[in-house]
Amino acid sequence: MANLLFGLQESKARFILVRMNHPALTTWLEIDLSAIQNNYRELCRISRTKVAAVVKANAYGHGLIEVSQAVIRAGGEWLAVARFEEAARLRSNWILAPVLVMGYTPPEHVLEAAKENIRLTLFDRQTALQYSELTHTRGMKVKVHLKVNTGMNRLGISPEEVLDFTRWAASLPGLELEGIFTHFARADEPEVDTTDWQIRKFEEVLAGLHSAGLKPPLVHASNSAAVFNFPQAAYDMVRCGIALYGLHPSPETMLPGTFKPALTLKARITSIRDLAAGEGVGYNYRYRTTKTEKIATISIGYADGFRRVMGNKVLLHKKETRVVGSVCMDQCMISLDGLAGVQVGDEVVLIGKQGSLQRTAEDVAREWGTVNYEVVCGMADRLPRIFLYTDEGKG
Ligand SMILES: Cc1ncc(COP(=O)(O)O)c(C=O)c1O
Repeated sequence: MANLLFGLQESKARFILVRMNHPALTTWLEIDLSAIQNNYRELCRISRTKVAAVVKANAYGHGLIEVSQAVIRAGGEWLAVARFEEAARLRSNWILAPVLVMGYTPPEHVLEAAKENIRLTLFDRQTALQYSELTHTRGMKVKVHLKVNTGMNRLGISPEEVLDFTRWAASLPGLELEGIFTHFARADEPEVDTTDWQIRKFEEVLAGLHSAGLKPPLVHASNSAAVFNFPQAAYDMVRCGIALYGLHPSPETMLPGTFKPALTLKARITSIRDLAAGEGVGYNYRYRTTKTEKIATISIGYADGFRRVMGNKVLLHKKETRVVGSVCMDQCMISLDGLAGVQVGDEVVLIGKQGSLQRTAEDVAREWGTVNYEVVCGMADRLPRIFLYTDEGKG
């Protein structure tokens, strides 16, 4: 469905999308792009600096291209992704905003990066040399952001090496040092002192570069949680993912009420049956009826990102009900206990609101023993994404 709409003039697509019921779909995501635009504006207001929209992993499951377009329409300038292929996908969809690849990019991509104005992250000498040789022999330049490891211990030059490294990298032809950044390991835990310590390290690095006249123009450090907990680290730009989607950075770092979750996951009732007491349900009979029970099948399974764990819940007819038995690849079964008048085709909400009830990505994460990030990033590619503008006035 999303593909069907691809290529339609945006205003026309909006007209269709806001009015569309989608009876032909069995399992789908609804993405509220107005919510994402609202959250982007809130992040700008609160951080008081440039906000790079982190749209890696298919915009945390929400849809890379449509989310990026919505952020740009709301005034967004910068995008950030994890891998080169994600940046290339933006470019092949005519999204020309500055984009930073925050992970490692093999030198094989550097010429395309230079041509497409895709910014690469740099954190080792060998890669720097390879980028430099490949670009400058063709008279090109690639923009790079230096990554400093202030304590995440994942990627980055150690603080002691940054000055030397920067002096050396600045002398390499074919490279333009546009930015310098770090990443926080525990910014969502405001009570621990790790982030203060990381900020101090980063400040020392910046001061050293500044004295040597080597400080790259764009300095950035904060993720969503840091925007709220460590406003002193806003610098020239913040890189926000989870809050852009209206999801809480952690139980200790909850978003203000002005943020809105953007993702709703829905499926439909596909079959209803009455079972006698003692019947097994689904693979391995991990559920058995204890009385005469009405059981419905719904069109969602673990291949959609709905995990195969016991204890899942869903919303149906504005009530919460439970999944029974094992979640299958494409389907699962739910109890219709206490629910009257359910029919094939009725909508089931797995994440989102129905009536006055809501199942949040955070509820699901708690039940799955994980974080909301993993819940939304796990939404499968095969799920059609229906993009909605619920707030026409501000789009
Ligand atoms: C380097 C980097 N910056 C920023 C972000 C955005 O983080 P968040 O989604 O917590 O805002 C991420 C996400 O993992 C990241 O890896």
